[in-house]
Formats: sequence, C-alpha cells, structure tokens
Amino acid sequence: MSNPGISEQISSLVTEAREAASASKSLAELEGARVRYFGKKGMFTGLLRSLGAMPQEERPAAGQSVNQGREDAEAFFAAATENLKKKEREEKLFAETIDVTEPRGNNGIGSLHPVTIALRELVDLFVGMGYETVEGPEVEYDKYNFELLNQPKNHPARDAQDTFYIEENIVLRSHTSPVQARTMLARRPPIRIISAGRVYRADEFDATHSPVFHQLEGFYVDKNVTMSDLKGTLEVFAKRLFGENTKTRFRPSFFPFTEPSAEVDLTCPTCGGKGCRLCKNTGWIEMLGSGMVNPKVLELCGIDSSVYSGFAFGIGLDRVGMLRYAVPDMRWLFEGDVRMMRQFR
Ligand code: DAH
Repeated sequence: MSNPGISEQISSLVTEAREAASASKSLAELEGARVRYFGKKGMFTGLLRSLGAMPQEERPAAGQSVNQGREDAEAFFAAATENLKKKEREEKLFAETIDVTEPRGNNGIGSLHPVTIALRELVDLFVGMGYETVEGPEVEYDKYNFELLNQPKNHPARDAQDTFYIEENIVLRSHTSPVQARTMLARRPPIRIISAGRVYRADEFDATHSPVFHQLEGFYVDKNVTMSDLKGTLEVFAKRLFGENTKTRFRPSFFPFTEPSAEVDLTCPTCGGKGCRLCKNTGWIEMLGSGMVNPKVLELCGIDSSVYSGFAFGIGLDRVGMLRYAVPDMRWLFEGDVRMMRQFR
C-alpha cells in the first residue's frame, strides 16, 4: 500500500478493537464496543470515509485494507461473544445451584387444630372398639340426608331456614347421619362404622353456633343390639375423653331416625359436676344425640328389622374440642387466629 499512514491507522484500530473486545466483561459491554467500532457512526466507517481525501488511484486498495481490518476485528468480537455467552451461562448455573444437603431454617412448625386433635382421639377410641371409618359426601341428596332417615317432605327441619339447599333435591348435609343410610344400602349387617366430617346449617355464627361445624357419627347394626350396648359404648367414650370420673346421663329425646331417642349429658368437665358458668350451674353438659335405630329406617334401607337392631349416635366434635381445651367461643375454632392455634403445638 502506497500510504503508510493509512495502514498504520488500520492496524492500530484493529488492535484497539481487539483489546476493547477482550476487555468487555459482559455481553452488554461488548455490544457497546461493537457499536463504537462497527456501527454506522463507528470508527471503521469513519476511517473508510476519510479515504475520500486520498488520491483517486489509492482509494480501492486502501478501502480493501480497511475492510480486511474490519473483518479481522469482527472475528475477535465473534470470539469474545462466544466466550462471554459461555461465561454468563456458567455464572447463571452457578447462581442457581441448590445445595440439597444444606440444613433448612426453622419455618415455624404448625399445630393440629383442636377439633382435629379431638377427632383423632375419638377415631382411635372407636377403631379400638372394632368400628371402621367411612366417608360420605358433604353435598348430599335429600334422599340420604332426610328421606331414608324417616324425615319426610313435610318435616320442619327440612325447611330452607335450617338447611342449605343446592337444588330442590340436593343439600349441604345437615348432619353426618346420611352416612348411615348410604352404608346400609351398600352392605349387610353386622355394620359397625363411624363417620366424621363437616356439616352445614343455616345457623347464626356466634359463641355457640356456626353454619359449618363437625360431627362424628357412630352406627352399629347387628342381631341383638340393645340400649345397654349404646349406654356402655358412650360411657367408655365419655370416660376416655374427659376422665374416669365422668358420668353420663341419658335424657329422653326425639329424632326421626331413632326410637327410642336420647340426648346424652356428661358431668361438666370444667367443674366436675359442681356447677359453673360453663354448665350454667347445672353440673351437666349436653354432648350428643343418640338412640336405637328406628326400625322404619332399617326397613327403608333394606334391612329386616325383625332380625336386626342397632344404635346410633352423633357427637358434636366442635363441642368436644371446646370443652376439652376450654375454648370459650366457637368462632375461635374457625377464625384461624395464630395466637389461638399456637397453643396447640
Ligand atoms: N343427626 C343428629 C343431629 O344432627 C344427631 C344424632 C342423633 C345422630 C341421634 C344420631 C342419632 O346418629 O342416633 O342433631
């Protein structure tokens, strides 16, 4: 080349560009340098333009040299791009590495809900007595919730004021008793089951009522099942849950699905029967409904009532939890306040 000035300029620009490429620490920085050297207003373009000042006959060779220098420099940038991509990928992988052997911090272990604790104790107790747990749906057909339990269409408890209706013949179950009907229709005696879960009533939400609460149903059908079997079973339940000194009291009552029916009271676990605010000074706390399975119910569910008899009971689990742990307000069971829940750790 006849112009030594231009070839020096080219080689120093190539060197400079190469250094800028290898000094770039990130793809973003490299891109900045690329624009500076190869962009429309970049240095190589600038150099090409400056050739206009050269004598006509020297220009083509000089132009070729600039382009060659530019290609060389661009090759460095391509290599640097690959390097930086690789480096950034490795850094990302490293940053995302999880050490699965690292001990984890204390995230605060939760606690069982008092109703869950009561439920588990009861399930344990009844399973120990030979009962099997079964489940039933919370959205239930009228047929199981009422009809087969001898609670016909005109019965007041079927009123929409008491029961949540989904459709004309579908309700949110108002008790766990429909599981009795479902079980009888599916199996033959002897049947000895418990079933626990949520039930729903169009009730107030106050210290002693909630529109959703929990029941545990017990149900036993066999030959020669008597009222004294029921009494004995519930006495075991009462003593196990509230202590050996707990006494039970059976009061005549009425349920369409049992005959005779009894409500069962326990001596107040808070005052031991002496009388306190909790038991309204009566010494007794109402605990559950029970009775001998109404022969009509057995027949409706295809069981020969001249051969079989049975007993049933329905326990309010929230009640049990409240008494057991001296929870004064039912709302506390459902509000999920951690200050309350923490105490059950
Ligand atoms: N289902 C009744 C209620 O919700 C409780 C009950 C009473 C269940 C007597 C029974 C029973 O199994 O025999 O109030």
